[in-house]
Amino acid sequence: RKETMSILIERYKDKVSTLSASPDNQLRKYEDFWYFHGFWHHSKANFTVEAVMAVQDDFQALPTDIFLASHPKTGTTWLKALAFAIVNRSQFKTGIASCPTHPLLTISPHDCVPFIETESFLNNPSYANGLLATHIPYTSLPKSIITSDCRIVYICRNPKDVLISLWHFLNKVRDDSSPMKLVDLFEIFSKGMSPCGSFWDHVIGYYKANLERPDKVLFLKYEDLKKDPKNVVKRLAKFLGNPFTEEEESDGSVEKIIELCGFETLHKVNKVSSEQVYFRKGVVGDSGSYLTTEMIETLDKITKEKFDGLSISF
Ligand code: A3P
Repeated sequence: RKETMSILIERYKDKVSTLSASPDNQLRKYEDFWYFHGFWHHSKANFTVEAVMAVQDDFQALPTDIFLASHPKTGTTWLKALAFAIVNRSQFKTGIASCPTHPLLTISPHDCVPFIETESFLNNPSYANGLLATHIPYTSLPKSIITSDCRIVYICRNPKDVLISLWHFLNKVRDDSSPMKLVDLFEIFSKGMSPCGSFWDHVIGYYKANLERPDKVLFLKYEDLKKDPKNVVKRLAKFLGNPFTEEEESDGSVEKIIELCGFETLHKVNKVSSEQVYFRKGVVGDSGSYLTTEMIETLDKITKEKFDGLSISF
């Protein structure tokens, strides 16, 4: 079914008009989370509140579907690449030298695993391998994802690095006006008003789902993937239903997948396309070069309070 941006805006205009607006009027609050709305991001319905409403109304998950979920800028692109490479490894030899035709060496991870709340997916809901992605918070996911008992892999990341990554990203993709000041984004991010935020509530939703349904919801951290990629990738493969065999573990298959999906490789592949915005630096703790001591203290305090009693640390 053809859904265009204008149709979506028209379809949900009454519902959207009742939502509260952020002080800068950029975001709308829907089911306790904030979203862009209307004509955002190159005139596509990507991640807007209208797109979320449309997938809630129309999307039917299959029990075999696996969702890669995240708050924006937490390592979504990396997770998509890893999951795609793992699930398809019998089809493509994953060694970079041995398989120059691997899709990840020519197209973006976002073309391999589509987001459901985008105009392109709403227009053409076709996908291979049962892998899909979403930034929608757990409590707002289309009902069929939960009722079909779909597996979900969630990735999260330290909020200070998320803020800095988001700041760079928004300044690259916003096609209007002058660059956004970090202090302004810091103000709204720390109040929970980030796209698909609050960041902390987003994490908590999936964290609790992981505690309740550990066999269906896997909870990963960007920092763990950086620190110990081999172990995390093995856990991921097992959860995806494609565990590495003993032979694969000893013949270097895990390492090959890590190299194929590594920042260096993907950054090079996507350098000359519009996808380059998804590969900036890929470093843990980069926020230390941008945030003031006061900003760091504020964010650490919020994180401590929000995650009190939960074992989430970065
Ligand atoms: P930085 O802006 O800190 O560099 P998302 O994919 O959720 O949009 O997150 C983007 C962040 O992940 C960016 O962080 C980006 O550089 C980083 N990233 C993208 N691909 C990566 C990879 N293969 N390995 C590690 N980090 C990666």
